[in-house]
Amino acid sequence: DLRTEIERLDELFWVSGETLKAISKRFQEELDEGLQENGRNIAMYLTWVLGFPTGHERGAFLALDLGGTNIRVCWIELAERKGETKVMQSQYKIPDDLKTGSADQLWNFVAESLEKFTKEQGLNGSENEPLPLGFTFSYPAIQDYIDHGVLQTWTKGFDIDGVEGQDVAEQVQEAIAKRKLPIRLIALINDTTGALIASAYNDPDTIVGAIFGTGCNAAYMEQCSSIPKLKSHDQAKDLPSDTRMAINCEYGAFDNSHSILPRTPYDETVDEQSPRPGEQTFEKMSAGLYLGEIFRLILLELHSKGLIFPDQTNLSYLQSSYSIDTGVLSFVENDDSADMGDTKNRFRREFNITPSHSDLRAMKHIAITVAVRGARLCACGVAAICRKSGIQKGHVAADGSVANKHPKFRRRWGQALGEILDWKEDREDDPIVLTSAEDGSGIGAAVITAMTLERAEKGQ
Ligand code: BG6
Ligand code: GLC
Repeated sequence: DLRTEIERLDELFWVSGETLKAISKRFQEELDEGLQENGRNIAMYLTWVLGFPTGHERGAFLALDLGGTNIRVCWIELAERKGETKVMQSQYKIPDDLKTGSADQLWNFVAESLEKFTKEQGLNGSENEPLPLGFTFSYPAIQDYIDHGVLQTWTKGFDIDGVEGQDVAEQVQEAIAKRKLPIRLIALINDTTGALIASAYNDPDTIVGAIFGTGCNAAYMEQCSSIPKLKSHDQAKDLPSDTRMAINCEYGAFDNSHSILPRTPYDETVDEQSPRPGEQTFEKMSAGLYLGEIFRLILLELHSKGLIFPDQTNLSYLQSSYSIDTGVLSFVENDDSADMGDTKNRFRREFNITPSHSDLRAMKHIAITVAVRGARLCACGVAAICRKSGIQKGHVAADGSVANKHPKFRRRWGQALGEILDWKEDREDDPIVLTSAEDGSGIGAAVITAMTLERAEKGQ
């Protein structure tokens, strides 16, 4: 019956403190392996962002953010007094067909958005003085220098031809040149690196920049002397010995060998039906793009067993992949209306399903089960970074829809981190806390662009 099924799911999805510890231990090994050489499972990409900002970075910059649902263009003026930093921005929704289209379509759309924005805002660069651009490209890219990045594989459901294996910095610059826009790409960054630097610009206690959103990933600052693979880079030879470099972990790929994560049949289905099976194993169990999908697969299975929505004949909406996003999952879990009337209405309106009392109770329970597992797993990556770097306290600057819009995520994540790191039960405060990453792809991209130009001026 339904109750037995729910108990089975509870057991299947529960990740105990002991298991979290074991996962985090293996995580730490994969992080170390990635620093050794290219091509390991967790890539630990070099970002060429050298050290934290001083907080005195100045100037005005364009920032472009391509990460998932939207493309965002910003104009940012870093001011003498922090509170006076100005941000103007526009957001354009990425059309769905573009996500599976061609490179030309993608870059044309990007350049068009830049053109529209600069015109609207009256931003005039010139050939001699082009507008400096920081581009947040939130996909795995190998960088040999800061305005370069070869896309290794699309993640988060993107599948655009002609970009994998190519330098995206060059591709975007070409599209900009085609439209004769007076814009020069200065820095290509990942959203996690942006989060790390944007937060550090204001908050010296920043230790990690993390995204808990459509995807799941983090960046932190590493001593160059502890990055063995840096030795093969000529441009790293002259760096002072105490230099630090931000590392974009790309840890959504953790455990692609399937050796430790407690995958369920639902996780296997999500993976098999994705454009890149076998990749991003950790992300597919913990990130926003997938939580709603896991929930949907469970609901469908319970329906096929006759345990929920028994009288509903038309489940076509529910049957289409990714029709339930994480926002819905969060909505169901947090619905405190009488008899969950809000969820009932929403499902009737959006999915053409009228859930019964018992359906609604089961849905809430399952939404919690899936979200709790996601949040607990998310703690493993950050715990591994902290352990490996000997960090015992500080701020994890987080961004992304799961961190920002799922009200219980923070508490669950903190609880799990404490279990992994053996924090005392009777502690007053958590030594490591999630904070908000002050707009990594806007301010972070601007600060990194400023740091890059400053270094270039000094001839470094
Ligand atoms: C946004 C940042 O706030 O969060 C992006 O501007 C980042 O750079 C994004 O990629 C991640 O969240 P989500 O939920 O949109 O994947
Ligand atoms: C995916 C991307 C990664 C990004 C993360 C969060 O894991 O591969 O680059 O940082 O999503 O957006």
